[in-house]
Amino acid sequence: MKALVLAGGSGTRLRPLTHTAAKQLIPVANKPVLFYVLEDIAAAGITEVGIIVGATAPEIRAAVGDGGRFGLQVDYIPQSAPLGLAHAVLTARDWLGDDDFVMYLGDNFIAGGITRIVDAFRRERPDAHILLTQVPDPTAFGVAELGADGRVLALEEKPRHPKSDLALVGVYLFTRTVHEAVRAVTPSARGELEITDALQWLIDTGRDVRSTRITGYWKDTGNVADMLEVNRSVLDTFVTRVEGTVDAASELIGQVVVEPGARIIRSRITGPTVIGADSTVTGSLIGPYASIASGCSVLDSEIAHSIVLDGARIDGVRRVEASLIGREAVVTPALAAHRLVIGDHSKVEILA
Ligand code: TTP
Repeated sequence: MKALVLAGGSGTRLRPLTHTAAKQLIPVANKPVLFYVLEDIAAAGITEVGIIVGATAPEIRAAVGDGGRFGLQVDYIPQSAPLGLAHAVLTARDWLGDDDFVMYLGDNFIAGGITRIVDAFRRERPDAHILLTQVPDPTAFGVAELGADGRVLALEEKPRHPKSDLALVGVYLFTRTVHEAVRAVTPSARGELEITDALQWLIDTGRDVRSTRITGYWKDTGNVADMLEVNRSVLDTFVTRVEGTVDAASELIGQVVVEPGARIIRSRITGPTVIGADSTVTGSLIGPYASIASGCSVLDSEIAHSIVLDGARIDGVRRVEASLIGREAVVTPALAAHRLVIGDHSKVEILA
C-alpha cells in the first residue's frame, strides 16, 4: 500500500503567510503540520509516499527531503495547478500504478493517527473507504449522507443545505478503481475536479464505498482559528522539558518546553507552552498555549494562545492573543499612532 500526500494547493485562507510559505509547513507546537501527517503514515506501516506539490515545491522538498528521517521513501509529484483533489489523483496515476493507497491531505490533523483504519482497509479492501466526523457547520465541508445501514448514499461538496452533519475528514482509502472515477468526473462550479464527485461516481456505479466515523479530534488547519486550535490540542499533550536556560528570576508554571539554546530571563511562562531553540524571552509573560518557534526574541511583552514563527521579534507589546505571527516579523509599540507595514491579504486587529 502507498500513501499520496497532498501538499500543493493555493492556501488562500492562510494569506499572507502562504504568499511566501507552504501552509503545510506552518508549525503547530513547533512542528510542521505535514510532519504529523508523515509520522501517521509511517506509523501505519506504509513506506512509499508520493507528495503532490505545487508552487511551493522547493520548500516542501527542502523540509522533507527523501523522507529517510521519517522512515519513508518519498517521491515528489508536481501538479500543474491546484485543480482539485481528484485532479491530484489523476496527476499521480503513473506513480500510484495499480496499488491501493491512502490519500492524506497535507494540512489535516487527526489525533490518534490512521493505523487502525489502514489496517482495516488492508483486510477488507472495499473500493473506497472514507472517514467522517460530526461538525457544527457542515456547509464548509464535503458532507456525507448515510443510509440506515451506515452505507454511504451520497456526498456533496460544501452544500448550502447539508443533509447531515457528517463531514469528510481529509483521509481517503482507495483501490485502483478510483482511477476510473477521477477520469469520469468533470469540473465543479468552482472549477475543480472534486474527490466527492469521484466518490459519488463510485457509489452510482455500484461500487463498495464504506465509511468510519472518527470520534477523536480532527481539524483541517486551512485557516488561522483552526490552526490555533490544533496548536492548543497538541500543546495539551506536552510534558515539561527544559533544555535551554531559565534564570532564577523566572517562573515556569504547568507544562513548559524550553528547547535547546533558548533563554528565559525575568519572565513567567505558563504552560502548556513551547519556547523554540535559540529564542530569548526577557521580562515577558508567555502562555498559556503559545508556540514560539526558533530564533525569536520576545522582550517586555505578553503573548498567549498564539503561534510565532522563526526569527520573529516582539518587543514592548502588551497582550497579544489568538495571533499567528510570520517569520522574521517585527511587532513593537508606537508612541502616537499605529504604524503598519503589512503584507498583502494580512489581517490586523488593533485595540480601539
Ligand atoms: P484545500 O485546503 O482544500 O485547498 P487550498 O490549499 O487551495 O486552500 P484554500 O482553500 O485556503 O485556498 O486543500 C487541501 C489540501 O490539499 C492542502 O494541503 C492543499 C492540497 N491540494 C493539492 O495538493 N492540490 C489541489 O489541487 C488542491 C485543491 C489542494
